[in-house]
Formats: sequence, C-alpha cells, structure tokens
Amino acid sequence: MVETSKSKSKKEVSGEEIVIKTIEELPGVGPAIAAKLKEAGYGELEAIAVASPTELSTAADIPESTAAKIVKSAREALKMDFETADKILERRKAIGRITTGSKSLDQLLGGGVETQAITEVYGEFGSGKTQLAHQLAINVQLPRNKGGLEGKAIYIDTEATFRPERIHQIASSMGLDPKEVLSNIFHARAHTTYHQMLLAEKAEELVRREEVKLIVIDSLTTHFRSEFVGRGMLAERQQKLNKHLHTLQTLADKYNLAVLVTNQVMARPDMFFGDPTAPVGGHVLAHQATAIIYLRKSKGGRRIARLVDSPYLPEGEAMFRITEKGITD
Ligand SMILES: Nc1ncnc2c1ncn2[C@@H]1O[C@H](COP(=O)(O)OP(=O)(O)OP(=O)(O)O)[C@@H](O)[C@H]1O
Ligand SMILES: [Mg+2]
Repeated sequence: MVETSKSKSKKEVSGEEIVIKTIEELPGVGPAIAAKLKEAGYGELEAIAVASPTELSTAADIPESTAAKIVKSAREALKMDFETADKILERRKAIGRITTGSKSLDQLLGGGVETQAITEVYGEFGSGKTQLAHQLAINVQLPRNKGGLEGKAIYIDTEATFRPERIHQIASSMGLDPKEVLSNIFHARAHTTYHQMLLAEKAEELVRREEVKLIVIDSLTTHFRSEFVGRGMLAERQQKLNKHLHTLQTLADKYNLAVLVTNQVMARPDMFFGDPTAPVGGHVLAHQATAIIYLRKSKGGRRIARLVDSPYLPEGEAMFRITEKGITD
C-alpha cells in the first residue's frame, strides 16, 4: 500500500498526470478495502470525500488511520479545495426556479423550486405531495418567462400513483399540448430501495442525453420504511438513504437541475415522545434537503405549506389550492 502511494508520487514528480476516477485507484485501497467500502455504500469518490474518517471507519469497518488517508486522497482527487465566495455566487446565479403554479407558494420558496438543490415535501396522506409533483413535472417544461426551465422531467414513482391522465388534464387546462408534455416526462416505477437507488444512478445517462431539469421521487421513503423495519435497522436505513440523497444532490449540482422528493408522515407507534408527525429519515434529510416544505390540509380544499428549513429563506406559510386545473392560489 505504501508502495502504491510512493509510486504515485514518483509519477507526479516525473510530470505524468494522474487522474483518479474510481475508489480502487485511491492509494491505500486494495480489493478487500474497496469491497468493504462499496458494501457500506461508499462506492464513489464523492461519497468518501464528504465523509469524516470516523464515519468511514465505522461504516466500512476499517482502521481509522486508513480511513483518514482514504478520505484525504479522495478529497485531493476531487480537488476539494477552498474556493472564493465570488465563485460560489457566480455558480448560484445559474440557479433556476420552477413555478409551483401558486404565487404565494412560489414566494415562500423564494421564486419557486430551486435547481442545484433537493426540495423535500412532507405531509400526511392527501396533503397534495403527489399533485405538486405532477404540476412541477409540467411546469418545468414552460418557457423561462412563464416560470419554467424549458426542460424535461424524470419521475421515479415508488407508490404507483403517477397518473398520465392527470398530467393530460392539467396540461390541457394550461393551454399546452398534452401529448407533447407527456412525451417530456420520463417515468419509472421503483419496486424496492435497491431499484430506486439504481434508477437514480442510471438517471445520469438520461439527464445527459435529454434536457432534464427536474427529478421527482414520489415517495422517497416508502420502500425504505417497509424494508428497514425496527430500531436495529435504523442505522443501515439512514446510511442507504444518505447515499441515495448524495447521488441526487450530485446530479442537482452537476446538471443544474431541481430534485423534488416527497415524504409521508404518519403516527409512529414506536415513539412515545417527540413529534409524532416527524418525517421519515429524520436528521439525515434535514441535513441533505435544501428546502423542506410541510404540507397540510385546511378547510375548503385549501392547503397550507410551511417552509420548515431553508438555509437562507425566512420561515413562513403559504396557502394554495388543488383544483381540476392543478395548483393555484
Ligand atoms: N383532478 C383533481 N381535481 C381536484 N383535486 C384533485 C384532483 N386530483 C387530486 N386532487 C386533490 O388532491 C388530493 C390528493 O393529493 P395527493 O395525492 O397529492 O396527496 P399525497 O400527499 O401525495 O398523499 P399520499 O401521502 O397518500 O401519497 C385529493 O384528495 C384531492 O383533494
Ligand atoms: Mg402521493
């Protein structure tokens, strides 16, 4: 292992360019460690680079000193250096926003659902999560001056609640060509967490080929909740969710697209204290989602959206309606 890194630094001295692209190429990572890392969900350089040595050591069951070296090399390989704030501002200027169809909800979100970010919508059944997802899959296709991004949508459906008829209905009422709108939405059913994660990874190909500006996962947590049952599996569930969200965030950043994930809440019989309507995924999602919206039903078919967590927008509430024509004020 030491030899590997020596030979690498020798190469560097001789001026040869070393481009590390896979975890196997990291100094100190042999086949056994590579297998452990993959098993623990750290199969990609990015996942390792953002991990802490302690986290990696525990998850992959490798010595902390080894983990520290691996993390360091992954960060170097990805050139994870400091950058100046003006560059960050420049990149953030490219952020696009998709209108939700409701002015007050858009306002709450600072102009709409943002690209380069994961937006989480959580709420109980019937609160409008799926309706919002349908609406956004249409709105992303609108011209920029109408609140769209002139892009296509990927819709990963874990509950089989995607309805092309509903897309048709809303698109028609917006004066759009429903056939064309439908042809710009790429839909896939995810049957298991494994399948869901795979679809997110495979999405990159499609994103690159087509002008995809929105990825929807409705719902993010259904399979995770049913496959990882009980406290004993909580750590594994969070780890997998974390990896999945990392894949999504990377796509959001790399291709300047928006990611919308939904999350149902339900009373939790395993909890005796705390908020019984807390979203599944808890703090991992809070950490990864850039904006979190809590939806609830109100009188007369109205819906109330509350911005729960945003790094730079003030908390607040917005009222909107779900009608035959889609989402409106
Ligand atoms: N064509 C329509 N016209 C008017 N309102 C509709 C229409 N379709 C759905 N809705 C409204 O949307 C509600 C369903 O919301 P939605 O399916 O988005 O909930 P959800 O939050 O995804 O729930 P779940 O957690 O069960 O997936 C219905 O109860 C109804 O009020
Ligand atoms: Mg739904």
